[in-house]
Amino acid sequence: MKKSIRFNNQKQGTRIAFVFALLFVLGGVQNNLFAQSNQWIAPAGADSYNNPYKGDEKATKAGKKLYTQMCVICHGNKGKGDGMAGMTLKPRPANFTKDDIQKQSDGALFWKITEGKAPMAAYKDVLSEEQRWQLVNYLRTFDK
Ligand code: HEC
Repeated sequence: MKKSIRFNNQKQGTRIAFVFALLFVLGGVQNNLFAQSNQWIAPAGADSYNNPYKGDEKATKAGKKLYTQMCVICHGNKGKGDGMAGMTLKPRPANFTKDDIQKQSDGALFWKITEGKAPMAAYKDVLSEEQRWQLVNYLRTFDK
């Protein structure tokens, strides 16, 4: 009788250990999902905005000027997200040399500059549409 009780306890112990292991794994999965949903994703409709200044060198140059005035403090000189004012921000400013930025459509980047997302401001009332497209052009120059 005693023996069988001990056996039972051991079985229960194994079961509890299993449940903890499962919770641990599920916790990891949930964390991953959470990290993904934390990414900033533009609405699909933004992909269909056409950049009227695509390939326009003059616009890219104008974008550089704007970038240096307004974006460099957070996103850094080379677009690596390492500007002085960005160091303590959460999340950190985007690194424009990364694939996950460069593979986005011009429309998606335009939408993000337009709408902003704390701690980054929305620029729709500060910059004209033309200026926001100029910035998109300039962001493309950070493609390595
Ligand atoms: C106060 C600091 C700050 C300034 C100034 C700033 N940004 Fe940002 N920017 C951020 C932060 C922080 C993020 C990341 C936001 C996130 O992912 O939640 C970001 C993200 C972005 C993204 C989206 C990248 C992605 O994840 O797809 C774009 C595009 C962008 N910034 C462009 C600009 C442009 C252009 C300017 C200048 C007009 C600018 N930013 C000025 C802080 C800043």
